[in-house]
Amino acid sequence: MGWTRFGVLISGSGTNLQSIIDACAGGLVPGEVAVVISNREDAYGLQRAKFSGIPGIFLDPMAYDGPGAYDHAIRETLELEDVEYVVMAGYMKLLGAEVLDAFPMRVVNIHPALLPSFAGASGIRDAFEYGVKVTGVTVHFASAVFDEGPIIAQEAVEIEADDTLESLEARIHDVEHRLYPAALAALAEGRVVVEGRLVRVAPR
Ligand code: GRF
Repeated sequence: MGWTRFGVLISGSGTNLQSIIDACAGGLVPGEVAVVISNREDAYGLQRAKFSGIPGIFLDPMAYDGPGAYDHAIRETLELEDVEYVVMAGYMKLLGAEVLDAFPMRVVNIHPALLPSFAGASGIRDAFEYGVKVTGVTVHFASAVFDEGPIIAQEAVEIEADDTLESLEARIHDVEHRLYPAALAALAEGRVVVEGRLVRVAPR
């Protein structure tokens, strides 16, 4: 079996990044995080990369002449590190067409709700405040639209009567930290077949 190099895009604390680093180190995912790119200098995920000896690069959106030039810099950085899959893990910026075109069906995202419900930056809160009884986590291929694209994996999380937003958040994050590495393992192992919108994941 091959060895997959992942490029992870982050904006924040990087707990999903950590779960991916750990899953690679523990042998669950046959590959490694080759590079971490952040659009925020203070993203704690950059420290996590450093602790694990992974190049962590801050690309400052303000330093580029518009979204196209920024997108180009991301593509160059990913290609320099010979990345096969681009993994958005709490990356709060829309990825531009150049990166999506350079990595067709090789850019994935995680969203803390059951898409297509509750897309957007506050999926956990929106589901909680709406009052749904079931929410969850989605891993999907990215498209040019936020939180949209063929779905690779989903897991439901029930909202209990005594849940607070905080307790729900904790359970959602636990699921994320399991589901994302499992989905990346399926991709790395070639168990994912895409037929238009339909994504079939074969068991191990
Ligand atoms: C996660 O809940 C992810 O689904 C969402 O942003 C959050 C990032 O958390 N897109 P972290 O940076 O991985 O800790």
